[in-house]
Amino acid sequence: MTTSLTSRIRRVVTVLRRPMKTDYWTIRFWERHYRTGGKSGEGSYGRLAEFKARVIKDILAEHEVESVVELGCGDGNQLAMIDYPRYVGLDVSPAAINRCRDRFSADPGKEFHVYVPGAKLGAAAEMAVSLDVVYHLIEDDLYDRYMRDLFGAAAKLVVIYSSDEERSSQWPEVRHRRFSDWVAREAPGWRLAERIDQLYPYVAGEHETSWSDFFVYLRSGDSAAH
Ligand SMILES: C[S@@+](CC[C@H](N)C(=O)[O-])C[C@H]1O[C@@H](n2cnc3c(N)ncnc32)[C@H](O)[C@@H]1O
Repeated sequence: MTTSLTSRIRRVVTVLRRPMKTDYWTIRFWERHYRTGGKSGEGSYGRLAEFKARVIKDILAEHEVESVVELGCGDGNQLAMIDYPRYVGLDVSPAAINRCRDRFSADPGKEFHVYVPGAKLGAAAEMAVSLDVVYHLIEDDLYDRYMRDLFGAAAKLVVIYSSDEERSSQWPEVRHRRFSDWVAREAPGWRLAERIDQLYPYVAGEHETSWSDFFVYLRSGDSAAH
């Protein structure tokens, strides 16, 4: 074996052995937030949550969805407003997952697991849902991993409720992403089937308004992001 081949193999082995990155500012932020009594945010309560629930109910009925995985399920308040069929909720925050397990302990149709980015997801469903999460993914590699896991978890439908533009923000936990570009580039087996505009569009300083719209993606071919 030549020295360069030996050193190349050594490099590959080193990369494979490198521990998975799990220490993200985003994850620490949300765990601290929930551990100190925080909630999922204004978008998961009141009229915004009612709007989200109404739209999702329509999507579930229209596409006859039988199983759902949510990536970033939060404190479960939004979830309580939606009558999902079989449901798996995943979140990076163990405190949020514990709250959901307590709240829905009597419901055998729901299960909850801590999501570790980069680890095998271990959940798949007909529909994968991301509600008010994409613009909270601060680190680029965390965002990329999240999008891959989201599309990789869905057999036929992905629903994203988020802003869809590159824009900075005054809040450290918010980074707007033009995720539709990511989908076009990285998930060619998926097509945007429908966009449902926000009923209460964002107005700076006004409560219960939001920059998120609904984007419904359908699997259009055999290839998909993974
Ligand atoms: C604004 S809350 C929305 C919660 C819920 N989807 C809802 O609509 O009520 C954002 C959630 O995303 C979670 N989150 C942040 N980064 C994540 C990631 N990389 N993967 C999964 N969940 C994440 C947070 O812990 C938090 O619960």
